[in-house]
Formats: sequence, C-alpha cells, structure tokens
Amino acid sequence: VWADVPLGPPDAILGITEAFKKDKNPKRINLGVGAYRDDAGKPFILESVKKAERQMIEEGLDHEYAPISGFPAFTEASAKLALGDNSPAVAGGLNATVQGISGTGSLRIGGDFLKRFYTKSHEIYFPTPTWGNHTPIFKDAGLTIKPYRYYDPKTCGFDFNGALEDISKIPEGSIILLHACAHNPTGVDPQPEQWKEISKVVKKRKLYPFFDVAYQGFGSGCIDKDAFGLRHFIADGHTLCLAQSYAKNMGLYGERVGAFTIVCSDKKEQERVMSQLKILIRPIYSNPPIHGAHIVAKVLNQPDLRSIWLKEVKQMADRIITMRTRLRDGLKKEGSSHNWQHITDQIGMFCFTGLKPPQVERLTNEFSVYLTKDGRISVAAWLFSEKTRGIVIASSSSSV
Ligand code: LMR
Repeated sequence: VWADVPLGPPDAILGITEAFKKDKNPKRINLGVGAYRDDAGKPFILESVKKAERQMIEEGLDHEYAPISGFPAFTEASAKLALGDNSPAVAGGLNATVQGISGTGSLRIGGDFLKRFYTKSHEIYFPTPTWGNHTPIFKDAGLTIKPYRYYDPKTCGFDFNGALEDISKIPEGSIILLHACAHNPTGVDPQPEQWKEISKVVKKRKLYPFFDVAYQGFGSGCIDKDAFGLRHFIADGHTLCLAQSYAKNMGLYGERVGAFTIVCSDKKEQERVMSQLKILIRPIYSNPPIHGAHIVAKVLNQPDLRSIWLKEVKQMADRIITMRTRLRDGLKKEGSSHNWQHITDQIGMFCFTGLKPPQVERLTNEFSVYLTKDGRISVAAWLFSEKTRGIVIASSSSSV
C-alpha cells in the first residue's frame, strides 16, 4: 500500500538529537536542540515549577477535560505576560487567547486561522534565516512563505537597513513574522529604536504582524524588556497576533504548553474570533493537555511562585551570558585568531557561530559534537561541553 511513500529526511533540529542518541562515543555532546542544561549538563527543573507541581498533588487535581480554549486562569495570565499586566487590550477584553500545544501548536493554530479567515493575503514573510520549523508549520497551513533580510553574515549581526528596505517592499496586506526576542537561530535582535522604525514601516505597508514569543525572558533575563517590540507594536496601533511557548522560560519542553492570541479591534470582534478559534481547535485535538497549563497558571498567578520564577528566568539568561564569555575566551586561549565577538554580542539561547556545513560535519563526524547544519549551537549546553570537549571546538574552528 505504501510502496510509493518516499523516505523523508530527518528533522533539521530534532533529527540531530536522534543522531546524537545513536552515537556510542561517551564524550558525545548535543548542542543541537534548544534545551537549557544545568552545570552538570542535566535538564533543569525550575524550583517554581516543582513547587507548583507539589501543590497540584496536594490539592488532588482531577483529570477532567479543559475547555476547548484552555484554562481561563492560564490564558489570561499568558496574555498578560506577553502584553503586559496593565495592557489596555487585556483590560478591554480584546484578546482572543487560546491554549496551544507549545510554540509549534500555537503557531499552527495561527497559521490555520489566517488561512481560513485572513482574506487580504496568504503570503507570510519570514526573516532570513528563521527557525527551521516555521516553514513547514505555515506551509502546511496553506500559506506561501516569502523572505525578508534579517541577518548579516558579514557582521554576524542584525541587517537593519536590509530588513527595512525589504519590509518596505512587501505587498500591502501581507503577513509578517517577527521574533519578539532572542531570535532563533541567530541570537540577533533589533534594539528598541530599531523596533520603532520597523513598526512604522510595517504600518505604512499595512502588514499584519505575527509575533513568535518563544523566548520571553531568555533575551535579557527580564520578561518586560523582552516584550518591548511586541508591546510597542500594540501601543503603535497595530492589531496583531502572537504565539507563546513555555518550553524554554519554564523548562516545560515536553509538557507542550503555549498560547495563541489575536488582539482584536473591539469586543464583538473578539467574540467572533474566539468562537472560530474554538471551531478550528475542536477537530484537531479537541481540547489541550492540562498538566503544563496548571503549572504555568500557578507560577504566573501566585505571587510567591512568580517571584521565584522571575529570578530563575534571570538566572538561566545570566548563565547563558557567562557561557558565551567562556566560549569566546576558550577559543582565544586555544589559539583561534578568528573574530568571535559575535558569540558575546548575540543573545538568547543560541549562538549562530558562522561555522560552515563542512566544519559542522567534521565536528560531528570526528568529535561527536552535534549542532545544526547552519552552525547554530545551544549555548546553554556549553558548560558541560566546555569541561569535556572545549578544546575540540577550539582546535577545529581555527581554520574558520
Ligand atoms: C529549537 O529551535 O531547537 C527548539 O525550538 C526546539 C525545536 O522544536 O526545534
């Protein structure tokens, strides 16, 4: 029956983990997937999350269905986290927020909704490069993917002029995808003044902004600072949508907990949009999983847990910054004369090293160091690696 089904390639990111697991080398390292690691190279379970889970057990929470749109305590807190505690949109009930299956599922709800109801255009413009999964998510939703310039390989930084120039030529009404912070894979974000300029051009072109908020807190260590671009867009009068993930900032990777929000123009519109989001979700997964959403709701809504969490987010972001300095210093110490300034200039979970595919291949094949083909490394996994393999990276990169 399936004789004509072709063998597909492994996933560009999760396929790296699969290959890593098969590697028998005891010194293998996985710098591929963006998953934070502690000093011992182990997954980090946040104290705030542990406390929330303990409470959940003590309270004897049942396993009943969540509403189609998810738990109100979760969706409300999520909207406030992204848009701000004092957001007029949230206060006015203009946000149609639904719980999603982490960032991916939330983006997909958005893609499906846009395909079904956004009549102005089915073209979505992505920064070049962007997260590998963005393309299949939106392509499978039926949208057409187009690029705008974002990263400048010459400076390993933000190509602000290139981005503005390209955005100013995007056909009116198109959708534009923006990473709210800690751009994946480049670690290169616009400065506040640059966000303001981008907002102006997006407005002039009458584009519909779609923010991917997968790393709130991981950029600067401060959740409000990391929401600057998104909140500025709203203050600037855009109506927009956004997808959130709690994989990184609460370490809830496998719990698949996220949210999708459409900020509407008035309450009636919000009601109509919300009704259609539910109609869209129901035949896909009926209603979302409850465990992760309970954790997030507790952490965000309980002041004691929230304050522990805010410190933990900062702690994770700070540790990544320290790892960046150590990696850069280590490369210098090992004799690399290459300019590695971008390692410390870039922010968030990843470093876009500039390593080329043959160098990446060599690192993987000869030294069992796993990273994505585009040269992206998860900096959070580094300390563990540094202890065991730092010298390998340094000596292999001296020819860069
Ligand atoms: C990543 O970029 O490594 C993460 O967002 C994990 C994923 O699903 O790709």
